[in-house]
Amino acid sequence: MRDCLIVDSHSPNHTRRLGQRLAKALKPGDVVLLSGPLGAGKTVFAQGLARGLGVTSGVSSKSFVLLGEYQGRLKMYHADLYRLTHPQEAADLGLEDYCSDGVLVVEWPERALDVFPQDRLVISFEVMDERRRRLTLKATGPRSKRLLAALCEKKWSSP
Ligand SMILES: Nc1ncnc2c1ncn2[C@@H]1O[C@H](COP(=O)(O)OP(=O)(O)OP(=O)(O)O)[C@@H](O)[C@H]1O
Ligand SMILES: [Mg+2]
Repeated sequence: MRDCLIVDSHSPNHTRRLGQRLAKALKPGDVVLLSGPLGAGKTVFAQGLARGLGVTSGVSSKSFVLLGEYQGRLKMYHADLYRLTHPQEAADLGLEDYCSDGVLVVEWPERALDVFPQDRLVISFEVMDERRRRLTLKATGPRSKRLLAALCEKKWSSP
């Protein structure tokens, strides 16, 4: 089973649809970490995840919410740790406790001490140009490998 997949997104909609597609395969306890610079598309991807889970309310961006909870087919917890100034603050949030009854999606995970389960799907976003983003998806265990396998079942669609 593969543990790495690289996908180029050509538009915000494309990134959203990649998130939607991943959402179809998510199970309770899955953890998705979104890494990359400001404006890389992490929130756009998280919005796609939420849409794919059937969440009807909008996913906020980081200015307002440190941890958002959304109800769809599964619960989705969306954490944005950009504003944390000390890794201990993230530990105090007890993020790992949110993993069991839903899916945990984290932007800026590197702001936190590594409290996340070992088996997580890590998606690194690179800004290639104004509209092009490279997503490198890495699986670190059987659970996240299963997610990658589900993604690879059908060809990634273009926008
Ligand atoms: N291919 C693409 N995929 C995603 N976003 C894109 C793409 N091309 C352009 N964009 C634009 O880049 C921006 C991405 O914003 P987004 O809030 O998702 O970034 P982010 O990685 O969450 O940043 P932050 O670290 O500030 O939270 C949006 O304005 C979006 O329209
Ligand atoms: Mg964001």
